[in-house]
Amino acid sequence: MISDQLLALARCPRCLLQSDGQADPPALCREGQALRCPACGSRYPCGDAILDLRPPDGVDGRETRYAADADEFAAALDFRAVGEPLLGAAVRERWLRRWLPLGPGKLVLDIGAGDGRFALWSRRHGAHIISLDAAPFFANAALAELDLALGDVRALPFPTGAFDAAYSIDVMEHLDAPGLERFFAEAARVLKPGGRFLFSVWDRIEENEFADVVVRAVAALHPHDPPMFLARTPHGHYDAAALEAQLRTAGFGATSVESLTRESTAPDALSVAVGYCQGTPMRNEIEAHGAEALAAATQVAADAIAARYGSGPVTGRIRAHVITAKR
Ligand SMILES: C[S@@+](CC[C@H](N)C(=O)[O-])C[C@H]1O[C@@H](n2cnc3c(N)ncnc32)[C@H](O)[C@@H]1O
Repeated sequence: MISDQLLALARCPRCLLQSDGQADPPALCREGQALRCPACGSRYPCGDAILDLRPPDGVDGRETRYAADADEFAAALDFRAVGEPLLGAAVRERWLRRWLPLGPGKLVLDIGAGDGRFALWSRRHGAHIISLDAAPFFANAALAELDLALGDVRALPFPTGAFDAAYSIDVMEHLDAPGLERFFAEAARVLKPGGRFLFSVWDRIEENEFADVVVRAVAALHPHDPPMFLARTPHGHYDAAALEAQLRTAGFGATSVESLTRESTAPDALSVAVGYCQGTPMRNEIEAHGAEALAAATQVAADAIAARYGSGPVTGRIRAHVITAKR
């Protein structure tokens, strides 16, 4: 869906990048099936359901694999249908409800929305949510019911001070260090004074039992080149104090961190092993060790989980930081 409100909020990401976020980007004018920037002449396709506001020249730095390898992801991801929030998603959905103003009259930005599931769940509370992602893997319900924009979190194509709140779930891990700095600065820029930004990061891997056991077991198979993606990336941003300092540099005022310990459950050890070894980018690092490596790593990980948690349903401790920042 592309509402009149989204059209009115759309701004030129190329001009934004050229001014390094210092000048408010120009509003866009309708021109047939596109929006055109009156300043630089860039055209942004306006389809039936998705407004394409990606920077025409890209953004310096790392591009997320969701966009770089879009065909591979389109085939592998099951993104068309969204169910009710479960497990980790249910926990995060409650965090959004607890910490953000999601009621009627509020304008909220979902930064790196993926299939749009958090926006679909959160908008029940009345807020108008705009979902932005670099890749077009939106669920059918999102295409029909949500305002959707393609765009880059490092050049948010919206005016300064437009949103009451913003959130970003499992996105920051995709950015390199300069990209993260730019992302935080952009999140601060598009919020109204007093607006709130929420994201969460996993605590260090040792505090997240299943991930830790899997990584140790697989590392023992490949001691000279251990697959450390999980420790390095999803569990590599655990220093919440450093993130708070970065947020303040980006223009936020008060920040807060709540560290939460919960239990994660799975039907059996093999599901955990398959989830981590085959369903995350750890898989690429394992497959680099040869044709048999994925099956061997999955089995070793399943054995290690079963040895510690048993052969039936398994429960392990998980720990994350919920970080909120006020503009
Ligand atoms: C792990 S998914 C999370 C999606 C969604 N927030 C959720 O939790 O269901 C990460 C998302 O971040 C998006 N992403 C990564 N880097 C991005 C960037 N620079 N600009 C916009 N989106 C980005 C990816 O395309 C992907 O959809």
